[in-house]
Amino acid sequence: MPELLLAELVKKEKLKPDIFKFSVKAPNIVKNSKPGNFVEIRVTDTTEPFLRRPISIYNLNREEGILEFIFQVRGKGTDILAKKEVGSQIDIIGPLGYGTFQYENYQNLAIIGGGIGVFPLYELAKCAKKSNKSVSTYLGFRNKDFVVLEEEFKNVSDNMVLTTDDGSYSQKGFAIQFLEKDIEDGKVDSIYACGPLPMLKAVQKLAKEKNIPCQISLEEKMACGIGACLGCAVKTAKSPEDAPEYWHVCKAGPVFNSQDVEI
Ligand SMILES: Cc1cc2nc3c(=O)[nH]c(=O)nc-3n(C[C@H](O)[C@H](O)[C@H](O)COP(=O)(O)OP(=O)(O)OC[C@H]3O[C@@H](n4cnc5c(N)ncnc54)[C@H](O)[C@@H]3O)c2cc1C
Ligand code: FES
Repeated sequence: MPELLLAELVKKEKLKPDIFKFSVKAPNIVKNSKPGNFVEIRVTDTTEPFLRRPISIYNLNREEGILEFIFQVRGKGTDILAKKEVGSQIDIIGPLGYGTFQYENYQNLAIIGGGIGVFPLYELAKCAKKSNKSVSTYLGFRNKDFVVLEEEFKNVSDNMVLTTDDGSYSQKGFAIQFLEKDIEDGKVDSIYACGPLPMLKAVQKLAKEKNIPCQISLEEKMACGIGACLGCAVKTAKSPEDAPEYWHVCKAGPVFNSQDVEI
């Protein structure tokens, strides 16, 4: 059951000029969270901006009841959030989302993320590694200035490939090219993805062609975050053309089996 609370900001780190990592004290949310869950954050006491902002859970420190999330400043809401200082109280609801990453029945996991979509994948990689799964991670960034969390992911992966579109750091190209090669070499029995829509579509297609189970986390725009406003609809793949059916990403997702949704 999601909980609403004021969580103390106990640590704040600037990872990039516009990317921040927040650690907040939220033991009950931590206790009930799974890889793939997200939280909704109210950034002011005023009505501007009125809506909460959805942010994925990056890391759960279960011993200390600390929840960590990472966000990029995009507009007014995240700009206000970025200005909070250690000691302030963050108005947060979580954990949200019923659709979380289900990795327990697989052994050779391929985790692929792009840009700020890598954040919700860390807790998944960490938990899978702890459960003695083989974790291969494929992270793609636009160029060297956008690269984040390289060491963190390396520490929870058996193999890791990091790509930049322009080759300015690590391997040149798209992360999916390396994933495809490993699938062909028989090294992958399941795929978990989060990132920009073109990347998700490509991963969805690849998984279908290769017949590999694949779960994708969608970051649709959201208003309420609890299934009440219909603001985050995604079409189900199997619904008839003349009577389309939709799911709420905030409630049924954000993680879906890739072949179940039309993106
Ligand atoms: C389930 C979920 C998990 C998310 N997790 C993270 C996360 O871990 N870290 C992170 O940095 N961001 C995450 N996002 C995106 C984040 O919620 C938005 O960037 C944020 O709400 C923007 O608020 P704002 O007021 O700063 O910007 P706004 O003024 O609302 O918008 C500024 C710009 O950001 C774009 N934007 C707004 N919402 C989204 C969205 N959902 N996806 C893509 N672009 C958007 C707008 O189109 C606009 O161009 C997540 C979104 C969802 C739905
Ligand atoms: S955000 Fe309101 S229904 Fe999903």
